[in-house]
Amino acid sequence: MKEKLQAIQEEALKKISESGDLDKLYEIKVDILGKKGKLTEVLKGMKDVAPEERPKIGQMVNDTRKEIEDKMEKMKTKLQDKVLEEKMKNEVIDVTLPANKNKIGHKHPNTLALEELERIFTGMGYEVVEGPEIEFDYYNFEALNIPENHPAKDEQDTFYIDRNIVLRTQTSSVQARVMENTQPPIRIISPGRVFRSDAVDATHSPSFHQVEGLAIDKDINFADLKGTLADFAKELFGEDTQIKFRPHHFPFTEPSAEMDVSCFKCGGKGCRFCKGEGWIEILGCGMVHPNVLKMSGIDPEKYQGFAFGVGLERIALLKYEIDDMRLLYENDDRFLKQF
Ligand code: DAH
Repeated sequence: MKEKLQAIQEEALKKISESGDLDKLYEIKVDILGKKGKLTEVLKGMKDVAPEERPKIGQMVNDTRKEIEDKMEKMKTKLQDKVLEEKMKNEVIDVTLPANKNKIGHKHPNTLALEELERIFTGMGYEVVEGPEIEFDYYNFEALNIPENHPAKDEQDTFYIDRNIVLRTQTSSVQARVMENTQPPIRIISPGRVFRSDAVDATHSPSFHQVEGLAIDKDINFADLKGTLADFAKELFGEDTQIKFRPHHFPFTEPSAEMDVSCFKCGGKGCRFCKGEGWIEILGCGMVHPNVLKMSGIDPEKYQGFAFGVGLERIALLKYEIDDMRLLYENDDRFLKQF
């Protein structure tokens, strides 16, 4: 028995010192100390040992096991250290390499244009107000003097949630909401998203943005409208900018006009940018129709006002000389980071 234990111990210690890696060491452990291992086999032979001999032999088995386990533990630590060392050697960080730069996002051209518009109008005492994108047909059409079956509804075909609720086609809807709740004087601009069932091309999108403007007070006339929008145009496109009004029709204003600015590229001579016209159309405007005032509870005999609506994308495209509106919606980083 004693010789057997001796032999096992010798074999085990030899194997352990030659093991070389952790897997191998584990194999050795199973082979010697495992359930079916060599040392366990020896223990099974205890029943053949004379009873008075058993404590002595038992002690010897325990000593052998301890010896082997200690050696194994030491070897394990050594091998683990080796693995760690190897890993550290392979994963050395070269602190002289250039750092991975975090990409910092920045403002979208639409946002830049909007901030510019807000800066200009708040500077003139206007307040920025927002309205809902999902709107009652009433505020989008009715209250703006566009009754049911009015042909103007055809030009602004939209997405109906039900008979009374639409995705708003224009930020003009905010006009009525504000007038219902506010006594003049009123000076607001209202930026926001609008929707129309248009197919996508270089100048159309089913969803785009407008900025509405509204000023209501006593004795407001077309000269106020003209002065305000002239200042706006000069601030936005430069001091030399000229403006021109062309008569137009909007159901909610009377008289109505479209406003052009002199081409800021060629100064009005005519170039590729203004398509040889010398002028660029930028907004619709007019004096608020008395019906609109009346419907929102404002006495048209006492108060007058003007309104205007600007396409935000149009301003962004002009300002940054972008020739395709689709670029604004594609989120292509290579495009966006130019502004
Ligand atoms: N809402 C008009 C549109 O979508 C733009 C507009 C024109 C707004 C004249 C106005 C205005 O407030 O007075 O085409």
